[in-house]
Amino acid sequence: MAFELRKGKKKIHIIVGARPNFIKMAPLYREFNKYPLEFEAKLIHTGQHYDERMSKFFFNDLQMPQPDEYLEVGSGTHGQQTARIIERYEKVLLADKPDLVIVAGDVNSTAACALDAVKLHIPVAHVEAGLRSHARTMPEEINRIVTDSISDYLLTPSPDADENLLKEGKSADKIFFVGNIMIDSLVQFQKKAKQAKILQKIASEFKLKSSAFPYALITLHRPSNVDSKEGLLTILNAFKEISQKIKLVFPIHPRTTKRIKEFGLEEMIEKMENLLLIPPAGYYDFLKLQMEADFILTDSGGIQEESTYFGIPCLTLRPQTERPITIWEGTNQLVKLESQAIIKAAFQIIEGQRKSGKIPEKWDGKTASRIVDIFRDK
Ligand code: UD1
Ligand code: UDP
Repeated sequence: MAFELRKGKKKIHIIVGARPNFIKMAPLYREFNKYPLEFEAKLIHTGQHYDERMSKFFFNDLQMPQPDEYLEVGSGTHGQQTARIIERYEKVLLADKPDLVIVAGDVNSTAACALDAVKLHIPVAHVEAGLRSHARTMPEEINRIVTDSISDYLLTPSPDADENLLKEGKSADKIFFVGNIMIDSLVQFQKKAKQAKILQKIASEFKLKSSAFPYALITLHRPSNVDSKEGLLTILNAFKEISQKIKLVFPIHPRTTKRIKEFGLEEMIEKMENLLLIPPAGYYDFLKLQMEADFILTDSGGIQEESTYFGIPCLTLRPQTERPITIWEGTNQLVKLESQAIIKAAFQIIEGQRKSGKIPEKWDGKTASRIVDIFRDK
């Protein structure tokens, strides 16, 4: 049975920490604020991501105010980062006593804040519950399992997530199929993103003749892909080959920048003339880059979903995905982590074999409203 919230005006903590959280929580924060007599929503930023380009840019693009609390936890090992969040957020909870804590996705901030709240008997809602890659070596899989096990409201993006939760023995009345909240932001800001000038900026920086050039868009940040030199080289060798046929636009994640330096791979990257390396892109710029791309090569979670929404072919550089609906219904395809397999899959798209798909049910921009509805007094 889902936890019954008390009647009357409710104080709600909305937790954000890492880049994808900002995109998922902005629409929810906005939706709660439509009912000021019913809710007081507060934004809590753990500070897991802190660079301007990983955090502040998103608050600006997504039109979010400064967070009410900023915990400044920064980077560290999993133990350090998670422990810092737990210690610092507990203090906020004890002082502020919210009626409900809402966490999203699968990052360390998600599991840590959920754990804090549940220990203080404060109900927790998990947005994007039920996704499973079934790969326990992924830190995110552990965060998903932990968070779903202790949450009172399991708010799912797709029917496969409901099935996973039921198989694990979660009670059906805790599970709410609300749809994909990331798509709420996309729908809201798509028009603005269309006008973004990122391609002109890239053309000018890299001295290209025109800003209308064919390209594949790349993102890479999974520890399993970038934290070993061998793994990273497998992927970079494939990029080298693919870039003989098409330009590659690569907004690079700070984890990957760090690894490239550490492994001494800067020279290899510099030599790839058609690899256009740029800093992490803002939200509008990145949506624009997705919309205009010939195809996408990524290991991101969210980008598998956004590319399905846009109908752009996506090659996911991972052995499995927690978002299988993007394969069953969308434009996503998993690719083996071998240089030749990556090259082959990319060349097939370049030669015209493009996967088409449809937009999954309830990926319609209305997920935040379905969520808030659950918490309104009936
Ligand atoms: C985290 C999430 C991952 C998510 C990703 C989104 C966990 C376990 N991982 O991975 O699920 O897909 O965010 O982008 O929560 N760094 C900076 N500046 C920043 C943030 C990070 O330089 O603003 C560097 C630091 O060197 C840090 C490294 O990136 O050690 C990794 O950051 P961290 O937050 O631990 O994990 P991500 O790889 O970003
Ligand atoms: N994104 C962005 N700029 C970038 C890369 C990604 O705005 O340079 C957005 C992307 O559109 C998506 C989200 O960040 O909405 C995905 O985040 P990320 O890949 O960092 O995390 P994951 O989804 O893998 O947890």
